[in-house]
Amino acid sequence: MGIDKRKDDHIYLASSELSQIGSAWFEEVILIHNALPEIDFSEVDLTTRFLGAPVKAPFGIGAMTGGTELAGKINAELAKAAEEFGIPIYVGSQRIALVKPEVKWTFEVVKQNAPHVPKVANLGAPQLAELGERELEEWVVQAIDMIDAYAIAIHLNAAQEVVQPEGEPRFKGVLEKLKIVKRAAGRPLIVKETGNGISKEVAARLSGIADAIDVGGFGGTSFVAIEGARTKESPLQKRLAETYKWWGIPTAASICEVKSAYAGYLIASGGIRSGLDGAKAIALGANFFTMSQPLLKAALDGRLREEIAMIIAELKTAMFLTGARTVQELALVPRVYGPRLRNWIEQRRLTC
Ligand code: FNR
Repeated sequence: MGIDKRKDDHIYLASSELSQIGSAWFEEVILIHNALPEIDFSEVDLTTRFLGAPVKAPFGIGAMTGGTELAGKINAELAKAAEEFGIPIYVGSQRIALVKPEVKWTFEVVKQNAPHVPKVANLGAPQLAELGERELEEWVVQAIDMIDAYAIAIHLNAAQEVVQPEGEPRFKGVLEKLKIVKRAAGRPLIVKETGNGISKEVAARLSGIADAIDVGGFGGTSFVAIEGARTKESPLQKRLAETYKWWGIPTAASICEVKSAYAGYLIASGGIRSGLDGAKAIALGANFFTMSQPLLKAALDGRLREEIAMIIAELKTAMFLTGARTVQELALVPRVYGPRLRNWIEQRRLTC
């Protein structure tokens, strides 16, 4: 099956309900209402830093796409909105443009339309496993130049690769290769999951290598479900996808996992569906959050700016109602955890 068809399949399937599986457990986090916040709504300040770069809000557009005509149009739309709102934007895996230079434009539109905000390049763990050192260094440099990236993200997507019809479930040697990426990039390295979450054990192994961990937790877009829907020929992979679409660490739990073992910059993603979910992610310990599927859907429906404005309003309201004037203060607000999250924290001996 052609890689172009796969990219467009991902866009269409991700924007349908069948891609949304389970819960990220934000309903397990209750921020305590502050009836006397002693601030004005207009004072709430969302500005923060994304890995050192000043940005207008503690959230950005997650990694999604590139490589086809449709993906190019979506990337241009996402980039224009990122620039307008002063928030970071990731691109999807750039492998397609490194093997097919004629589609580089579908990523370059991001630097053209979002010249002033931090942009994040993207490659996958399977490419790290397959490429030799020299070639990997070249790919990293080219991916960064293609979008004038401020940082590079490497995605870990083991579950997707196992169930994907044309998947490459090869992860041997990836940790060592991450060091090569970091050296070649000469800028922040983000290691991210794509919907199955990161544990404290993995976070500890990434310490000293990754400048940021993006948890990519369970409870939002499921690439296992998406690949299951794409699989036509293989009953085995279809069955695997059906069984494993529930596999993963819910995002709220994954934030606590990573926070307990990793002192670097922490990005929350996976199933964040409102500014309130994002506020809860920050209260749990994230420095920043990203959303993917809701912004893709909004872009396809021509209501991207309204959606981003809504997320900002929801986030500001959460801060006002907890008496948090700044993003730093939001991290400290009182909260209560529901029984599933509390149990997880206890059993896994997490500090959250
Ligand atoms: C993704 N995601 C993704 N991640 C990545 O690192 N490289 C990629 O190429 C892609 N491609 C991709 C395509 C589409 C259409 C979607 C919706 C998502 C995964 C994404 O960054 C994120 O981890 C998950 O989508 C979970 O977040 P949401 O969608 O639940 O907010």
